Amino acid sequence: MLDNHEHNHAVHEFDGIIENRVSSPPIYYTILFYGLVIWGVAFCAFYLLSGWSSEAEFQQKMMTYQETYQKASLSDPTSSTPKSAPPAEKAVAAVPAEPEEDGTTLYAEKCAMCHGENGKGSGIGPNLARPDYIYGKTPEAITESIAMGRSGGMPAFSDQLSDDEIQVLVNFLLSL
Ligand code: HEC
Repeated sequence: MLDNHEHNHAVHEFDGIIENRVSSPPIYYTILFYGLVIWGVAFCAFYLLSGWSSEAEFQQKMMTYQETYQKASLSDPTSSTPKSAPPAEKAVAAVPAEPEEDGTTLYAEKCAMCHGENGKGSGIGPNLARPDYIYGKTPEAITESIAMGRSGGMPAFSDQLSDDEIQVLVNFLLSL
C-alpha cells in the first residue's frame, strides 16, 4: 500500500476512494464549463450595469401604446403613422369598437331599468319594441325624446349622453 503510493503519484486511494490526477475531463466539458462561467458573469453584468429594469420596459410599452392609441383616435390615419406596426394595427382596430356600435350595452345601462330588456317595456316606461311610438318612431322624434325627455316621465339625456351615443340608441330602437 505505501509502496504503491510512492511509485504512482497520479492515483491516490484513501478510504476506498480513488483519486485520479492523470486523466483530465474531456475538452468540450472544459470549454462548456468556462464558457458558462463567462456567460454568467456577462449576463449578471448586463442586468446590473445597463440600467434595464422590467418596470421601465413596462412603462415604455404603455407609453408607446397610449401614444399610438391617441394618434389613431384622431380619426385621420394618414397624418400620423405610428412607429411600430403591430400595436398600431391593434389600436386602429380598437377605435371603431370604442363608441359602441349596436347600443345594447348603452341601452342596458341607461334605459333598461324603465323600458325593460330589449325595449319590451316595464311598469315604468312604455314598450319601445312596438312599431309606432306616441311621439313618432322617426329618427328625429326619437332623438328628441331621448335628448329632451318627454313630459310623461321620460328624463332628458342630453347632458348624460353625447350626440353620437344618442344616435347609436336611436338606431338601436329603430332596429327593434
Ligand atoms: C326613469 C325611467 C326612464 C328612463 C331611465 C328612460 N325612459 Fe324613456 N320613457 C320613460 C317614460 C315614462 C316614457 C313615456 C313618456 C311619455 O309618454 O310622455 C318614455 C318615453 C320614451 C320614448 C318615447 C316613446 C314614444 O312612444 O314616443 C323613447 C324613444 C324613450 N323613452 C327612449 C328612452 C331611451 C333610449 C332611454 C335610455 C337613454 C330611456 N328612454 C330612458 C321612462 C324612462
